[in-house]
Amino acid sequence: MADSYLQNLFAARIGGSEYGKSTAIYKFEKIKRAKRAALAAHPGAEIIDLGVGEPDEMAFPQVVAKLAEEAAKPENRGYADNGDLVLKAAAARYLDKVCGAPGMDPEKEIIHSIGSKAALTLLPAALIDPGDGVLMTTPGYPVFGTHARYYGGIVHQLPLLECNRFLPDLESVPADVLRKCKALVLNYPNNPTGAGATPEFFAGVVEFALKNKLVVIHDAAYAALVFGGRPLSFLATPGARQVGVELHSTSKSFNMTGWRCGFVAGNERLVRAYGDIKDNSDSGQFLAIQHAAACCLDHPEWTASIASKYSRRMDGLVKVLRNAGFAASKPGGSFFLYVKAPKAAAERGARREFKNAEDVSQWLIAEKLISTVPWDDAGAYLRFSVTFIAGDPAEERRVLAEIGSRLDGVRFEF
Ligand SMILES: Cc1ncc(COP(=O)(O)O)c(C=O)c1O
Repeated sequence: MADSYLQNLFAARIGGSEYGKSTAIYKFEKIKRAKRAALAAHPGAEIIDLGVGEPDEMAFPQVVAKLAEEAAKPENRGYADNGDLVLKAAAARYLDKVCGAPGMDPEKEIIHSIGSKAALTLLPAALIDPGDGVLMTTPGYPVFGTHARYYGGIVHQLPLLECNRFLPDLESVPADVLRKCKALVLNYPNNPTGAGATPEFFAGVVEFALKNKLVVIHDAAYAALVFGGRPLSFLATPGARQVGVELHSTSKSFNMTGWRCGFVAGNERLVRAYGDIKDNSDSGQFLAIQHAAACCLDHPEWTASIASKYSRRMDGLVKVLRNAGFAASKPGGSFFLYVKAPKAAAERGARREFKNAEDVSQWLIAEKLISTVPWDDAGAYLRFSVTFIAGDPAEERRVLAEIGSRLDGVRFEF
């Protein structure tokens, strides 16, 4: 691209005049390139993709039909702005029935989002001024932190460690950092660790937030995808509505990633501020999509059936990885299995040492045509997602057996 004065006009937050010149290759791009290279080296071979972070199936046919019906209504055609009552009322029922958080006011304490990612991009505008601190967990979904930094915020990372069941140690935050912090961002069931929170942990979070005057943003994108018992909502914690909001999404819970619809619920002031920012940023999700999403929220059994599929696949994957020597144990929810990365692999007399999880992940793609996502942020781990393509349980078993046979004969060292 020819040099242009435009190059000097980019904002510092995306690199200023250096924007677009970096040669660094980011993690997900490296994975994509490795997959392409593996296919080129083994034409026609099957890549088993355990790296995907979204459901392998379509939304339920009833939801697709509901969308068609709602899309045909003239009253749904226009700007949705901050939404009508249909989704908000369904969300209040869902929070009561599924999440054990009754009595939410749909008018004041709930508002739709164009997916949780969009909500995480907008909320910092309501909270973060230059110099304000944000507590985020790592490894994790970085979007709130990225936008907080755009506003001059400072992100303090809290490591999620296995020895602490992948819950952050809130007491580890130094007092001078804490004084500048305005927000604590959490996500349970967690991406990428698959860990769940506990009522005691959430109670401690409320106490910590009140003591340190923090807003809590709980990203519950995987909320109802649990493998036993009831989903655990932050909003079910006494005092939670005083300190924070929870983000729900139909993306993973109802196989609707492309539909872009969720909701933000909790503290009335925070919901109002989010609504003000949102109103100045987008014109709302198509009402037909909102109404189809509302229909889902009245059918939590659909999520339960998705979760039971992931649970079955997870049992199979845990077995296969354990047989291969990994210390895999089934998480409480989500579709992610997070396991310690090996330090070396020996096979047919050859031994390969790995520098980190990224190295292992690249080796797995190149040598075994198995794609995973590496995490080196708080220890070296691999994330295996059970969203691989398989149309029925027999096909699932075939894919799992294929993973087992590709790993057979490799001696991993940890
Ligand atoms: C932790 C977490 N939060 C939010 C999102 C985004 O979800 P949505 O599709 O609702 O924007 C994802 C998607 O991968 C995620 O993993």
